[in-house]
Amino acid sequence: MALESIVRADSTGGTEERDFASLRPKSFAEYIGQKELIENLKIAVQAARERGEPLDHLLFHGPPGLGKTTLAYVIAEEMQAEIVCTSGPALERPADLVGILTNLKRGDVLFIDEIHRLPRIVEEYIYPAMEDFEIDMVIDPGPHARTVKLELNHFTIVGATTRAGLITGPLRDRFGFSLHLEFYGVKDLQTIITRSAGILSTKITGEGSESIAFRSRGTPRIANRLLRRTRDYAQVMRRDAIDEVTAIEAMDINGVDEAGLDRLDRNYLTAIIKQYGGGPVGVSAIAATLNEERDTLIDVVEPFILARGFLNRTSRGRVATALAYRHLGFTRAGQEELPL
Ligand SMILES: Nc1ncnc2c1ncn2[C@@H]1O[C@H](COP(=O)(O)OP(=O)(O)OP(=O)(O)O)[C@@H](O)[C@H]1O
Ligand SMILES: [Mg+2]
Repeated sequence: MALESIVRADSTGGTEERDFASLRPKSFAEYIGQKELIENLKIAVQAARERGEPLDHLLFHGPPGLGKTTLAYVIAEEMQAEIVCTSGPALERPADLVGILTNLKRGDVLFIDEIHRLPRIVEEYIYPAMEDFEIDMVIDPGPHARTVKLELNHFTIVGATTRAGLITGPLRDRFGFSLHLEFYGVKDLQTIITRSAGILSTKITGEGSESIAFRSRGTPRIANRLLRRTRDYAQVMRRDAIDEVTAIEAMDINGVDEAGLDRLDRNYLTAIIKQYGGGPVGVSAIAATLNEERDTLIDVVEPFILARGFLNRTSRGRVATALAYRHLGFTRAGQEELPL
């Protein structure tokens, strides 16, 4: 993994997901934080279970790495249901969806990740499936086309998206719950780090876990990633526990500053200040300047710096805040401050 990417909230896929599997909470009891959301879910799950009914469809939205996929698995576990996983882009044709739906048993959970990327033609098939548990199949397309209704078992769709704004109204309306995941506070992240360190059999002090928590951009995935990098560093440096000094040294060499910003965040804000006079500037222009994907900036970079007050989003574009100037050592005129 490139050093730059250590505090990117998006998953690096493959091996990281496998390595993290042991750290993933499996039940409500293990799930840390998001208190209000978890309370709501517990009630819904208990009510459905007492009635012996499948759970209503659920939509989770929020920035990457906050635990949407984790929650889908937790829900299946708590409902004692089986889970089938797919994603918006994987469901290319209606037949892909129909194939999955007709195989679901009563109560099964169908997890659709990146549901905002579901193709339109597939989305139309999903409406009646979600609402009435039936689909209209067109047989022999052409002049003799017939449609047959297929009855489906009552299942639960759990949708996840980092872009709630891109979900169409009709699709959103068919979810019984639409739940937003918030960035985690330092205390919750500290608890997550301590729990993960325990699973990884790594010694960590309270200050050590707090230092990592502060730099985790409110995101459990990043907290776990920083913990693993710090653990490597502690091992190689022959430290017997991750204390504050070890944690800070490890994160310094990985380019993560005390606010949890990494090089790309700082480059992003620096570009706005230096090349665009602090803004307003469109995100596409910033993407071109940095030679980065526009979607990466929107999904991964912006949510955190917006939430932490480094950036404002206005109708005319992105604006760097006074906090960003101060953090990066610029005067208001965009000059780098001279050391005294
Ligand atoms: N509440 C939590 N308590 C403890 N660990 C958590 C929690 N939420 C997430 N994690 C950890 O963070 C990792 C990332 O979470 P997850 O894959 O569920 O994020 P996501 O929201 O689905 O991200 P993406 O949008 O990229 O798919 C998990 O592997 C898990 O170890
Ligand atoms: Mg996910």
